[in-house]
Amino acid sequence: MDLETVTAEITQVLITKEQIETRIQELAKEIDAHYDSKDVLLVGVLKGAVMFMADLSRAVQSRVQMDWMAVSSYGSGTTSSGVVRILKDLDTDVLGKDVLIVEDIIDSGLTLSWLVANLEARGAASVEVVALLRKPDAAKVDVDVRWVGFDIPNEFVVGYGLDYNERYRTLPGVAVLSPSVYS
Ligand code: IMP
Ligand code: MG
Repeated sequence: MDLETVTAEITQVLITKEQIETRIQELAKEIDAHYDSKDVLLVGVLKGAVMFMADLSRAVQSRVQMDWMAVSSYGSGTTSSGVVRILKDLDTDVLGKDVLIVEDIIDSGLTLSWLVANLEARGAASVEVVALLRKPDAAKVDVDVRWVGFDIPNEFVVGYGLDYNERYRTLPGVAVLSPSVYS
């Protein structure tokens, strides 16, 4: 689906497909340098991180394994409560592994801080985070995100994996959803 198809439903294109591609190449270089030919277990957070995982995992030269978790914050609407429920757990035992969590976006950071603590408690050798997007509120939570693609304003965004009610995930770039869609 092209961004042109949804012009009436978005207010602004924040990040283009090309900008994402360029930034992923930069992140991949930093990630490769950090892990320095160690094996890495990439843990993607379903479903928003699917596109980012697919592109980032192929951009790195490090040897990676891929696994997925699906989590859900209790509570409804567009805010996260910090109480997290595992909907789909990893298939992999993370004991002794270098884990890199691949996230779509950090808003409150509550989901992520829970996830980091959870994987550390399972005995991972290291747990790092790469997030494509970060909103300003993330600064309030004490979660160490080693790599961030883009800092964005406090707007509800869709595209490149991010959804509103399961829609817009296949847009190639990241766009601000028009409030008329959800109000
Ligand atoms: P938090 O950091 O715990 O508040 O929640 C982060 C999660 O909320 C992300 O992984 C997304 O699934 C979702 N989310 C937060 N902001 C947005 C947004 O602007 N668009 C789409 N999903 C979002
Ligand atoms: Mg998510």
